[in-house]
Amino acid sequence: MRDGKFITLGIETSCDDTALALLEGPRDTIYDVISSQTADHSPFGGVVPELASRKHQEAFLPLLGALFDGAGMTPAEIDLIAVTAGPGLMGSLLVGVMAAKALTQAWEKPIVGVNHLEGHIFANILAHPRLEPPFLCLIVSGGHTEIVLARGEGKYLLLGATRDDAAGEAYDKAAKALGLGYPGGPVIERLARDGDSGAFDFPIALRDTKDVEFSFSGLKTSLRTTVGRLREERPGDELPVSDICASFQRAVTESLMRKVRLAVKKTKVTRVAVSGGVAANSSLRDALSSEGRNKGWDVFIPSRKYCTDNATMIAAVGYSAFMRGERSDLSLTPDPSWEIWEAAG
Ligand code: KG4
Ligand code: ZN
Repeated sequence: MRDGKFITLGIETSCDDTALALLEGPRDTIYDVISSQTADHSPFGGVVPELASRKHQEAFLPLLGALFDGAGMTPAEIDLIAVTAGPGLMGSLLVGVMAAKALTQAWEKPIVGVNHLEGHIFANILAHPRLEPPFLCLIVSGGHTEIVLARGEGKYLLLGATRDDAAGEAYDKAAKALGLGYPGGPVIERLARDGDSGAFDFPIALRDTKDVEFSFSGLKTSLRTTVGRLREERPGDELPVSDICASFQRAVTESLMRKVRLAVKKTKVTRVAVSGGVAANSSLRDALSSEGRNKGWDVFIPSRKYCTDNATMIAAVGYSAFMRGERSDLSLTPDPSWEIWEAAG
């Protein structure tokens, strides 16, 4: 406790960011720190799991010191440890969970395992105090593309997901095909600003199906084929990279928007939130905002910092779960494919 307020330490290591945060009560960030491994994975065009877990191990203790120093607090003041226990990369998750279990014993504080995707949903609840269930949430990250109906805290119905690649993965693979490094989303967004989004007609898979479902592998293949064709047709010429990026981005955004519209139509829920790394993308943010204005939806978009992986959202889920009576213990084990969705029907 600090000044009578409940303090949660959030720990996030599910992919390639080591992130720690101290949260006061349900939604006030005291301090947060993040150690990104982008530069380590960039030469490989994607996250290398073994490298990710080693980097988490190296980063963890210095980052924990920096967190408490920066906050001007001591571990004695915290009330709860919330740690991402899945889904994610096993080796990465293990580092956070093992560290959390060591700390829970050393500091004699309770521990609660948190689902990473629920964390992304909570990024919206953190940012928008007036966001009340039921609401739809489009989760778009490097590993996930899903639309869920949040019916209450801890109650999520999966309306649909991708059949193959995630939207963020599509950005990353497109960037790799264009030789732009990792992660792909931010660099494609930057280059797309100077491009013509109508220059190439990339496919929108499953555009008219009646199910909330996505597919991005055809788009990825189409981009690769286009790049190969251009290189063959114009050897020695520079690729029209900005036009390719803008057209690709348009196709991803339109694929996502079509199914958001369908989810609203099917559920009649018009509160629409978005989260995950791809929610940092301006084209998607703008499309959602303008659709919201046109259709009278209430659209919720977290600030960019809380779209990508962070530990504040993990602390917020941990706080909410703990207050509902949930507890983990030293038997907590990471689950790389942990699903929290209620069965449909
Ligand atoms: O949520 P996140 O930080 O990590 C996962 O849980 O996956 O999402 C990372 C993903 C990467 O695929 C990255 O390329 C994408 O989010 N991303 C973006 C942007 N910023 C990050 N995609 C499109 N536009 C962006 N500005
Ligand atoms: Zn994530």
